[in-house]
Amino acid sequence: MDRRTFVAASLAAGTSVSVAAQAASSGSITILGICCSPRKGKTTFESMQICLAEAAKVDARIKTELIEMAGMKIDGAPAAGLPSVFGEEDEFPRLQEKLIRPDVAGIILGTPTYFGNMSYLATILIDRCIAVRSSFGLAGKVAGVLAVGGARNGGQELVIASVQAALMAQEMIVVGDSRPTGHRGATVWSGMKEGLMADEWGLSTAKNLGKRVAQVALQVSAAR
Ligand SMILES: Cc1cc2nc3c(=O)[nH]c(=O)nc-3n(C[C@H](O)[C@H](O)[C@H](O)COP(=O)(O)O)c2cc1C
Repeated sequence: MDRRTFVAASLAAGTSVSVAAQAASSGSITILGICCSPRKGKTTFESMQICLAEAAKVDARIKTELIEMAGMKIDGAPAAGLPSVFGEEDEFPRLQEKLIRPDVAGIILGTPTYFGNMSYLATILIDRCIAVRSSFGLAGKVAGVLAVGGARNGGQELVIASVQAALMAQEMIVVGDSRPTGHRGATVWSGMKEGLMADEWGLSTAKNLGKRVAQVALQVSAAR
């Protein structure tokens, strides 16, 4: 995509032209992490930080940003055409602008595992993204999923598969963690008695996911 098309696409999407244009002229891309744990700054957030730090190492053109859903005023009801409990204060429209920004080439969704499923905040986020599906505003962006569980095999892979199914319906380019771990995404275990940082395998899947999303996002952006 040349610069003019890029800026036009930003305008059409109603996004901040200055951010998009800046990114276009610098050749930089953004990998956006969204943490869907209701507990701010806890194990899902920490794992996402590690994942994004690895993404940033791939290339100097990669910028990363981590958003926490916790504390945001985003209700699920508008996905079904109902009013938000937050009324005019609902923050999804602002988040949506960011999600569809052309420089956002990759999105990594992180969620704790709740009874073998994604968290309610991840469900709300995914459901609200129905708003961008009519225009397929997320199409062609690279997607990765990180799931944290209190048990080593507490259902993280089930969560990843479920989130990936929704992201595929948005025409996103879904990837897993890169080699040498090389599976479906990041599967982190927060329940080790020594703490999250002792989960060497899980955190390596988080790092390899960040790396893979960044590598593919760069390739896709270069091909445009
Ligand atoms: C309601 C609830 C259900 C949970 N279900 C599971 C589960 O099915 N499998 C699992 O491994 N951990 C489960 N856990 C543990 C969390 O996934 C784990 O503590 C995770 O690290 C929480 O992420 P956070 O620190 O970002 O909040 C559950 C926790 C809660 C609160």
